[in-house]
Amino acid sequence: MLARATGPRISITGLGCHVPDKVVTNDDLAKLVDTSDEWIVERTGIRERRIAADDEALTDVCLPAARRALEMAGAEPASIDLLVVATVTPDMSFPSSSAMLADLLGMPDAAAYDLSAGCTGFVYAVVQAHAMLAAGLARRALVIGADVLSKLLDWTDRSTVVLFGDGAGAVVMEAVPEGGFLGFELGADGAGGANLWLPGSGSRKFEDAESHVKMNGREVFKFATRVMVTSAEAVLAECDKTMDDVDVYVPHQANVRIIDHATKKLGVPAEKTVVNVHRYGNTSSGSIPLALADAADDGRLRPGKLVLLTGMGAGLTWGSALIEWTHPMTGALV
Ligand code: ACO
Repeated sequence: MLARATGPRISITGLGCHVPDKVVTNDDLAKLVDTSDEWIVERTGIRERRIAADDEALTDVCLPAARRALEMAGAEPASIDLLVVATVTPDMSFPSSSAMLADLLGMPDAAAYDLSAGCTGFVYAVVQAHAMLAAGLARRALVIGADVLSKLLDWTDRSTVVLFGDGAGAVVMEAVPEGGFLGFELGADGAGGANLWLPGSGSRKFEDAESHVKMNGREVFKFATRVMVTSAEAVLAECDKTMDDVDVYVPHQANVRIIDHATKKLGVPAEKTVVNVHRYGNTSSGSIPLALADAADDGRLRPGKLVLLTGMGAGLTWGSALIEWTHPMTGALV
């Protein structure tokens, strides 16, 4: 799907993020599996990640982020009529985490559903909310991208435990007089799905049901380096923009080598690129809003700035969104 945003202008008016308190360093992981700080930093750029406590589930991590986004937007919870939670780690299959959050936050009039698109989930959810708002089906949306992938990892598998962390980000979206989202590109390639999967997690019965994340790192790496570039180029062309027009580039924070490859191919200078994977690892759907929170605190998200978001992940999926930022914001991380 490739489209220019038409109709009323829709933007992000509030941003909130939250990560669990527990910090797990590379040296901590080296006590669990055969790895080292040196290997992890060299191959991924990751130095530490946040890991949810045993009794901390997805909605616990989402709540502070959602409250902060609402506060920043000056939005009463009851004014939200659409809540989309992008995640692959809901508290349970049903009820949806979005329905639970709508109740906890006090949103009696909100349509609420979860959306599954791996690490691209936040971008997919933003596009869904944009469509509902632009069509007049909703007036104010809360979009949450969040995952607690630590709950699904095999803590004896060094090829996956070093990569992921837990975190949540939320945005309020609504109509604005000008600026806001300019265009989107989304895609999926189910044929590559088995390169990053959790086969024992649904209704399909497998001989050797697997309850932990399985990943073919090299294939995901090849896929990621390709789509991070093609998706960004597609949305820019659709909106008659070039990379030179972009002020802030917010790539999915999976691996610093994937980000470096994309910035080189796209010709984005380092000062325009947001990188925080060294602090959080890959937080899946939480990654792009957590990166936005850093950009906001750096003073980079000022009205009029052109911001490019590109994600990729399980599915395999990818997606980009181009937005002309409208609201100054700081202090998103709580
Ligand atoms: N510590 C030490 N050694 C390790 C580790 C580790 N944690 N993991 C693998 N190795 C070893 C391997 O066993 C291999 O050893 P061998 O040569 O003796 O066989 C060696 O290191 C090299 O392994 P590679 O897989 O070739 O290493 P590579 O440079 O490709 O890096 C990595 C691996 C970091 C996983 C990389 O492939 C990658 O980042 N892939 C993308 C993963 C990703 O982004 N996934 C998330 C997608 S988003 C989502 O939706 C969740």
